[in-house]
Amino acid sequence: VALVLIGFMGAGKSTAAAELARRRGGRALDTDRMLEAELSESIAAAFAREGESAFRAREERTVLRALDRAGPRDAVALGGGAPTIPAVRAALRKHTVAYLQLDADTAWRRVSTSPTVRPLARDPVAFRALHRSREPIYAAAADAYLPGDEQLDPMALDAAASLPDRPRGTRLVWARAASGSHPVWVGRGLLRPGVDWGPGAGACWLVADERVIDLHAARLPVRAGELLLAAGEEHKTLDQAQRVWRWLAESGATRADAVVALGGGVIGDLAGFCAATYQRGVPVVQVPTTLVAQVDSALGGKTGVDLPEAKNYVGAYHQPAEVLVDPELLETLADAEQAAGYAEVVKTALIAGGSLWDRVRAGAAVDEQTIVGCVRTKLGVVAGDERDADSRQVLNLGHTIGHALETVTSYARLRHGEAVGLGLLACLRLSGAEALRSEVGALLAAAGLPVRLDGVDPEAVLLATRRDKKRLGPRVPFVLLAEPGCPQVGRDVDDDAVRAAVEELTR
Ligand SMILES: NC(=O)c1ccc[n+]([C@@H]2O[C@H](COP(=O)([O-])OP(=O)(O)OC[C@H]3O[C@@H](n4cnc5c(N)ncnc54)[C@H](O)[C@@H]3O)[C@@H](O)[C@H]2O)c1
Repeated sequence: VALVLIGFMGAGKSTAAAELARRRGGRALDTDRMLEAELSESIAAAFAREGESAFRAREERTVLRALDRAGPRDAVALGGGAPTIPAVRAALRKHTVAYLQLDADTAWRRVSTSPTVRPLARDPVAFRALHRSREPIYAAAADAYLPGDEQLDPMALDAAASLPDRPRGTRLVWARAASGSHPVWVGRGLLRPGVDWGPGAGACWLVADERVIDLHAARLPVRAGELLLAAGEEHKTLDQAQRVWRWLAESGATRADAVVALGGGVIGDLAGFCAATYQRGVPVVQVPTTLVAQVDSALGGKTGVDLPEAKNYVGAYHQPAEVLVDPELLETLADAEQAAGYAEVVKTALIAGGSLWDRVRAGAAVDEQTIVGCVRTKLGVVAGDERDADSRQVLNLGHTIGHALETVTSYARLRHGEAVGLGLLACLRLSGAEALRSEVGALLAAAGLPVRLDGVDPEAVLLATRRDKKRLGPRVPFVLLAEPGCPQVGRDVDDDAVRAAVEELTR
């Protein structure tokens, strides 16, 4: 099993392969360079002389030979088009495949200013179309998803190279934010009994959902101590945070140690907040056990607790040291909690558009592939705007009205995910996306989620939106979405339209 780098032209595959080979004491094989040596001419010249299909046939032979010869310490950089060849994709299954992700704009900037002539990089419109068509091919072949748009973090390469040591089928998404980067591991069996999954260094202080401990005691890591807490929104309070802080202090936890948050979004937000503030910050490992937490809350570093006045009003940005997502834990989740998580899946797929939305709209079961798609989408957004200055606000799609519905029902009637589902429907109405609203309504209803809500006063909901943390002026800015993949942040919506969209939910 070698480590194979794939990705669009300009993603830095050759440089990464050379670095990996250096770090692991193996060889770096670059299939484009191998082809050029074989042909004694440049790729561009061969492409022009032979045409694309003859070139791909030649490329297939060279790439298969390289993959066949590569040993466990070797790193292979594939040409950007190689994964479009079915025989190459089949051969990749025997190796660990790392996809260096690069957006179309950065790719174009890089290739159009590079001295290397690239046959498929002549026209910017065709280049973008090619980028769009290649993304799902790379994504489906990958075991690791690494950022290719800036100098590659050697830790990310080492993490990808360690994948064969993890349970089979584990995937890695490398999370990057202004304040630091970390691995997110996704795989069935990551937390199986007997697998040692605690933090790498220091003592492990486990803050866990008491129900999860009851159900999954055999999966727990070696730990210095554990504090069991009740979950549910009513427990995401400063009183509970104080219990955690004082327990850490009484137990003698230090900054060399790590807090491990094992549970759903309530435990993750609360324990993450306590880790952010205890001794001004200790590392936290997030181990999400609900679907809401696996696709959303354990990612991105937002932590906090509620005040009686409003939700999530006290908190901190604190990126985890690591996130472990084991979908096996969801097998014990109640149907209603699974459904609540599904609302966040739909939200994320609407933001992402493309192949994730295609999967979700086709009614696909929420499996590892969908979870990885959600993880990549959320982390991609956070990478560009960790602290919610602008583009991260897309993640609040459906949340402005969703949070307001939670507030006016005193957090007692709706799960967070259920409120988000209703918020999405209101937001699609405000976006004028009639057909999409019906489609999303049908998906939510099929998952057993509420698509209407009795007994709420639209005026009270409108007033509650004004408490939203995103509000800077008199009105809160909305995230609107006219079509999947194209969210727009900071949109001003008039009060009558909000009242009408909420009223529609009560009919
Ligand atoms: N930080 C963020 O970016 C972010 C994003 C989205 C949501 N959130 C927050 O997440 C919270 C909601 O999270 P949640 O829906 O996970 O709620 P939760 O943590 O209350 O969990 C829901 C229920 O599932 C139970 N449970 C957890 N794991 C289980 C398992 N494996 N098997 C059986 N039962 C299990 C819990 O005991 C609880 O009863 C809200 O407070 C919301 O604000 C935060």
